[in-house]
Parts: sequence; structure tokens; C-alpha cells
Amino acid sequence: MVKEQISLLYVPRDTQQPLIEEDWDYASADTKTHTHGFHAYPAMMIPQVARRLIGMYGQRGQTLLDPFCGSGTSLVEARLAGLNGYGIDINPLAVLLARAKTTDIPESVLQGALLEIIDAYQLRRQNGTVQVPQFFNMDYWFSPEVQLQLACLREVIFAILDQAVRQFMLVAFSHTVRECSYTRKGEFKLYRLPESQIRDFRPDVLGTFIAKVEKNIAGMAEFNAQVDHRTHVQVFQSDTRLRQPIPDASVDLVVTSPPYGDSQTTVAYGQFSRLSLQWLGLPCEEAKSVDRRALGGKLQDKAQTSLYRSQSLEATVEQISQRDTRRARQVKAFYDDFAQCFVEITRVCRAGAKACFVVGNRTVRGIRVPTDTILREIAEGFGWRFVEQFERRIPNKRMPLQNSPSNVPGERGETITREHIVVLEKSQ
Ligand SMILES: C[S@@+](CC[C@H](N)C(=O)[O-])C[C@H]1O[C@@H](n2cnc3c(N)ncnc32)[C@H](O)[C@@H]1O
Repeated sequence: MVKEQISLLYVPRDTQQPLIEEDWDYASADTKTHTHGFHAYPAMMIPQVARRLIGMYGQRGQTLLDPFCGSGTSLVEARLAGLNGYGIDINPLAVLLARAKTTDIPESVLQGALLEIIDAYQLRRQNGTVQVPQFFNMDYWFSPEVQLQLACLREVIFAILDQAVRQFMLVAFSHTVRECSYTRKGEFKLYRLPESQIRDFRPDVLGTFIAKVEKNIAGMAEFNAQVDHRTHVQVFQSDTRLRQPIPDASVDLVVTSPPYGDSQTTVAYGQFSRLSLQWLGLPCEEAKSVDRRALGGKLQDKAQTSLYRSQSLEATVEQISQRDTRRARQVKAFYDDFAQCFVEITRVCRAGAKACFVVGNRTVRGIRVPTDTILREIAEGFGWRFVEQFERRIPNKRMPLQNSPSNVPGERGETITREHIVVLEKSQ
């Protein structure tokens, strides 16, 4: 792709100043094509951004890694562009979504499976032998009738023998769980509908599920028509701080959007996923602990100092600690965890590999945290060099409108309205 053809806000390697004010925004782009529209997920990457980065830095036959793959946007785009992929995410719901979105299944198989589900569901409803699972706050989030219907549907889907088909159906089931619960729609955190709306809320569980499956089959058809069938993707449910079953120097390109910060004060992936995960059969405690186990989720007793150096981070943490020492420690803990991921990212990438990180600079206690610069400084310590950087406004990505930088309920801070796409290269 010729650089001049693409409009962008571009920071060349020798200067910090953006030169050409154009866009990576894709404000009016359709972000739900192919399998991208299977299921909502917080802070999803825009497929067009992943596609463009893969087009600029990747080649057919190569291998892409997304170490924070979330719902799998860059992995879907990898297969469409003829690259193999590895994905890692700590959130089991993300792993389910990423696997389902990257697994091609013939539409006829899915249509047949849907008809079988409908028959089996109706039979089971008539027999009335459904076991409703018990988990924390079940009655708070679901009416007794919805509980019965979801339990019935779940049993029918769990009985599907073909793993890929079951996975595909569970994605639509997870969507149905959300839609038919008392949660306020369009929110990432779990907020209950007001009582006045709950009284009249009688969702059609099977109808919601069927509509979603049909929509997803249409998306799968689009994916099937364009995917490079020689490619494959593996998604690991794991913590990127740990060693993964990925060979040394086997990755050519990283395209990823890491969390903006700890889940508690930025995006609560675990909270977003909890009801689905509980219905999908994950033990309640494990479902509830996703945010604690994610990057920055646990405050270390002692800050880790030996792994990396970042002058920008040190200065920022110092500034924040003058206002709030606990928040300063939280910020530091997040980058300590992030740096640990770099050990593994560096191991699996070959010399000369490119890594594209889509990051946001959030504000903590009124102080801007320059993640783009901190990332560069951390990466340089692991033998990566800065190549270039692009900027994008966030027009249509599903994000909390404002973060809660002080972590005080109701208190709102500055919104992350821009993202920075930092491109690095692993030294030879
Ligand atoms: C910004 S989201 C990625 C969204 C993704 N690009 C998409 O399009 O859906 C960041 C992801 O990092 C994951 N994450 C947080 N800590 C992690 C860790 N230690 N190891 C692996 N994944 C982690 C979160 O669960 C979340 O799914």
C-alpha cells in the first residue's frame, strides 16, 4: 500500500510531530462485516485498523500474534489476509469469541444445527425437565421464566457434539443471556434496569437466540467466502505474562490493543462478561476474578524495578503520587505487568518482526499517562526500536464514555478520545 494513498495523521521516525492531518478514524465504516459482528465486547479494535496494519506490515503465509486478542478482531483479519494467527487472552469469554470468529464452518451445517436446536428446545420445554443452574444473584439479573428458558437452551446447546458448532451457538447464547437479563443495554458495567422497566420486561429468549444465530450465519457466509482456507488460528486462554506454547522466533507481526489500564478504573472486561461466563458454566469465583487477574489487577507489595526502565513512567508516577499514592502504585503495577508480557512477546517474535500497538493515553488524578511513550521506552529495553506512529480519534469504538480516574463512584474524568498506533521493530 502506498503511504500517500492512505490519509493519516503520521509521525515519521525522526520527529515527534504529526505531519499529515488525515484519518485512521473510520468514523462511518461498517465494523460488523464478516464475523466481526458476532458479539459485543468492550474496546474492540476497528477491523479496518487491523486490516490496514496487516496490509502495511504483513505478508500472506506469515504469522500474526495478538497477545491481548479480546474478541479476536486482528485474528479474523489475519485469516482474511492469508496469515496464520496466535491469540492470547485471560478472559474465557474473549477466548470463546475469538475462537468462534476465526473458525470457518459451512453455512449449511449451521442452518441444520439451528433447526435441530429449535426442535430439541421445544421438546424439552414440553417435557418440563429443565435444571436451572444456581449462581450468585441469579434472581437479581433474570426473571424465573427467563431462567427456565435459558437453562433449557443451554442444555440443548451443551449437547451438540461438534465442538466448532457448539462454540458458534454458545456465542449467540451469550448474546441472548445479556439481552434477556435485567442489565441496562449498551453498558459495559453491570447496571440493573430501573424497576419501572423491569415490570414490563418479558424478553423472548428463543426468538432472540434465533435472530442472532441467523445474523451470525450471514456473517459466517461472508467470512467463508473470503477467508484463506490454508490459514489457521490458535487462541490460548492464558496470561500473556506467562510462557505460552508458541515456538521461539515464530511470529512475524504483532497487531494488538492492550488494556488501557487496570480493569478497576478503565474497562472492566470481567464485569462485562460475568453473566455470560456464569451461564457458560464457569465457576462463579473464576468468572468474578477475571478483572483481578488481568493486567494491573493486583497491587504488588513491592514495585518491580529490575525488568525495565521508563523515564516517562517514573516522572508520571511521581506526579500522581503527590496527589494519591495508592493510584500511583496502581499505575505502576499495570506497567510492571505489561513489561512482563514483553518478555514473552519478544521471545516468540523473530528478528525484524514488526509490532503494532493501539494504545490510549488515559488520565489519572488529572495527570495524563503517556502510554505511547512509556510503551516505546519499555520496548526499547527489550531490544525493539521505534518505527513510526499514527493517531486516531475514537468515533465508534464501544468505550465507556468517561473513565473514573479517581475511582470514586460518580466522579468522572477525561475521556480517552484518541488512540495512538505505535509501530516497533524487533532488532536483528
Ligand atoms: C482492549 S481489549 C482487546 C480487544 C480486542 N482487540 C478486540 O478487538 O476485541 C484488551 C484485552 O486484554 C485482555 N487482558 C488483560 N490482561 C491480560 C493478560 N494478563 N493476559 C492476556 N490478556 C489480558 C483483556 O481480557 C481484554 O480482552
